[in-house]
Amino acid sequence: MRASGNRLTREQARELLVKLDSAMAGSRGRASREAMVKFLNTAVSTYSWVGIYAVEGKDLVLDAWAGPAATEHTRIPIGRGVCGFAAKAGRTEIVSDVSKDPRYLQCFMSTRSEIVVPVANQGVVIGEIDIDGDQLDAFSSLDREFLEAVAKKASNVWT
Ligand code: SME
Repeated sequence: MRASGNRLTREQARELLVKLDSAMAGSRGRASREAMVKFLNTAVSTYSWVGIYAVEGKDLVLDAWAGPAATEHTRIPIGRGVCGFAAKAGRTEIVSDVSKDPRYLQCFMSTRSEIVVPVANQGVVIGEIDIDGDQLDAFSSLDREFLEAVAKKASNVWT
C-alpha cells in the first residue's frame, strides 16, 4: 500500500504498522533497521529519504538509510542540526520548512521539511529515525504518532 499524494491517514498508519512487522520478518539489529528504512521509504510517498542514526558516544552515526542519494552527514555531534537537537532533547522534532530553521543541516537540495524521532531504551536515547520530505509541511502529528510507534519497534530489536 502506498500513501498516495499527500499526508498519511490514520487508516494507512495502522496498516503500515502491520506491514512493517512482515517487512522486518523477525530480524534484529542492523538488519532490522535496513528493513525499516527500505519499507518506510517505499511505502510512504512523502518519506523521500529515510535514515536511522545510532548514538555512539557523543555522536550520531548513520546506520541504515534508503532514498535516492547518500548523505554527507554520516556523523553528527549530538546537539548539532535538527538530528542532534532531537537526540539531546529526547523528543520528536518536526520542521515544516527547513529553510526557516537555523538548526537545519542541509543534505539534499530537494528537502523542504523534516521529522526526527528519537529511539529510546528505558529513557535513554540510543538512536533516531530521520526523514526528509520533498514537500513543505510533509509531516503531521499523525506521522509523529506513527513514527514513535516505529521507533518503539526499532528499540525492541536494536541489538
Ligand atoms: N538535516 C539533518 C541532517 C541529516 S540529513 O537530513 C540526512 C539535520 O539538520 O540534522
